[in-house]
Amino acid sequence: MSMIASHFGRPRGLIGRLVGRIMARSNGEFNRWVVEQLGKYSQDQPARVVELGPGPGVGLEAALRVFPNARFWGVDPSPEMLQQSRKRNLGDIESGRLTLREGTVESLAELAPIDMVMANHVLYFWHQPSAELAQLHGFLRPGGLLALGYQLRQNMPKPAQTNFPKLGHLLYDSPDEVAHLLREAGFTTVTGLMKGSIDAPKGRLAIATA
Ligand SMILES: C[S@@+](CC[C@H](N)C(=O)[O-])C[C@H]1O[C@@H](n2cnc3c(N)ncnc32)[C@H](O)[C@@H]1O
Repeated sequence: MSMIASHFGRPRGLIGRLVGRIMARSNGEFNRWVVEQLGKYSQDQPARVVELGPGPGVGLEAALRVFPNARFWGVDPSPEMLQQSRKRNLGDIESGRLTLREGTVESLAELAPIDMVMANHVLYFWHQPSAELAQLHGFLRPGGLLALGYQLRQNMPKPAQTNFPKLGHLLYDSPDEVAHLLREAGFTTVTGLMKGSIDAPKGRLAIATA
């Protein structure tokens, strides 16, 4: 179980590709919801948008439609996930609207200033989240938005609750914990949203302004 859990943080090989397909199905609705919220929240049409850790590319697919005038980049350390993102968004890659790159937060330096960064279910894999968030803050333009989609520890599937901490990944117990990290990293306003009911949340979203 721990071996499979490791693929959610860094999908690789055959199992990684399988995990990518599972993520597309199990996280797809949440990714589309995050993009819908961003569409409602952002006052200006962004010009430069990055998805960090797009995995199989469902969030990118939705965001490309909701922000039709934006230029997009998808940055992920997993070549297998970049391949799935590519397959799902081939038309936009071929038209030059979307570029996919292998990398992590540091790779965004060359894309700055960025109007909007979205990262869904990536927070847990940042082992020094204060440092990662401070870097993201620096790459966004003043007033730019960071959207972090995540799930709290207690609402995660049991195998993730058990195995993610064993792998050194970080889980969060309250939205305040996430908001605190964002403010410490320099973000000014932090808005917290929840998909689903308080008894059975399907995921949370923190939208932070740089
Ligand atoms: C659990 S998956 C989530 C994929 C997609 N965002 C979703 O919601 O379905 C985590 C993704 O983040 C990527 N990832 C892991 N560590 C990362 C890091 N430090 N920076 C950026 N992406 C990372 C993984 O390769 C994987 O594609």
